[in-house]
Amino acid sequence: MTVLAEHAVQPRPAAGPDPVGRPGLLTDPALHATGDPHAIWRWMREHSPVHRHEAGELPAFWSLTRYEDIRAVYRDPATFSSAQGVLLRPLALGEDPGAGQTLALTDPPRHKQLRGLMADWFNTRAVRELEGFMRDAVRDTLALGVERGACDAVDDVAARISMYTIARIIGVPREDQESLFQWANECFLAHRSLAAHHGFMGYFIDLMDQRTAEPTDDLLSSLAHGTVDGEPLTEEEILLNCENLVGATENGRLALAAGLLALLEHPAELARLRADRALLPAAGEEILRWTSSATHSMRTATRPVEIGGHRIEAGDKVVVWVPSGNRDETVFTDPYRFDVGRTPNRHLALAAGEHFCIGSTLARVQLRLLLTELLDSGIELEQSGPVVRLSSIHVAGPESVPLRVRAPR
Ligand code: HEM
Repeated sequence: MTVLAEHAVQPRPAAGPDPVGRPGLLTDPALHATGDPHAIWRWMREHSPVHRHEAGELPAFWSLTRYEDIRAVYRDPATFSSAQGVLLRPLALGEDPGAGQTLALTDPPRHKQLRGLMADWFNTRAVRELEGFMRDAVRDTLALGVERGACDAVDDVAARISMYTIARIIGVPREDQESLFQWANECFLAHRSLAAHHGFMGYFIDLMDQRTAEPTDDLLSSLAHGTVDGEPLTEEEILLNCENLVGATENGRLALAAGLLALLEHPAELARLRADRALLPAAGEEILRWTSSATHSMRTATRPVEIGGHRIEAGDKVVVWVPSGNRDETVFTDPYRFDVGRTPNRHLALAAGEHFCIGSTLARVQLRLLLTELLDSGIELEQSGPVVRLSSIHVAGPESVPLRVRAPR
């Protein structure tokens, strides 16, 4: 990949006085689209690492911003339950419909059994078998960009690679993958749940009925015929888990698109990578740390517990801000530097513990394939307009990255 660095931007670690000391701003989606949440997180790590937010539109919750606190919460599901939801949600919306039903929203021991039904579809061997399919998807999307002379790194490249792959894993036939892609896009852009999309739900109900009657070699058949505690999953559980899996790929798309953007914005790091391909694995990890697309995870305390001198009561909501942990200066040297050779890099972008991202291998391989293809092909990318960032407190990253694309010379 050759980058013409007209739009190069350097990170801005500096924290101004106010609004930095106003952690309440963190729940304003606009801050994440156009502001600098890192300045607030930096202030919080130093001055208020365990911070209480009072109830408003959202429930009251505690914010954790230091690496070790975040990691400890992820690794203690007995004290910090996922079963009442893992994302901040307006009180008016009530409980998350997936609570206690989807993989992300269950606790051990049920979680382990449910994960067991899906894990084989995401392990190293399964992902290796998908490499050819994913490489083709990468090549097709880039070839289309070259043909048109332009593309959007999010819609035309990253979203397609991650969505076609999860569709194939679940068992959505090739001819229906485009519809799934369109429904998911509409929901992601409108920040709506996929379950609210009639097209999506109607389609999956039919597909589930087919796989229940006649199982094939796909994840949906595993869910339709698997058991947890000796009982088959309910139809609702099956559907919500499919929705959860498709929804979770939004992180995959963001990692790919934000990764490209990070390299465009740091041409010297891209040059390092081009000169030394042995840096690819480290570069992938640095992209995950740097872009940290999952902005927060929420847990509910199951018992009173003390963190940093604060007493958290049973039932309290605890929110861990992942991008903040990944810039913690007590763990990462020069954390505001994008460094494709960074080692060690024990980032928390994919969480930790029981709920460690099940799509982690898939996401890492997709990143490697995209970077390798770009570097090998000699395709030239140039940012051709402003980046639009997502206005969300759940996921972070670009909504649109317009690019000019030139064929290799
Ligand atoms: C390739 C696409 C991906 C898929 C299919 C996927 C799928 C999932 C699923 C199903 C879970 C729940 C696991 C469990 O509860 O046991 C999960 C958890 C998680 N994933 Fe991913 N993921 C993907 C990519 C990513 C990426 C790229 C990131 C971040 C850079 C990410 C960050 C996380 C985090 C932070 C969690 C923990 C959520 C929580 O428990 O609160 N995922 N992922």
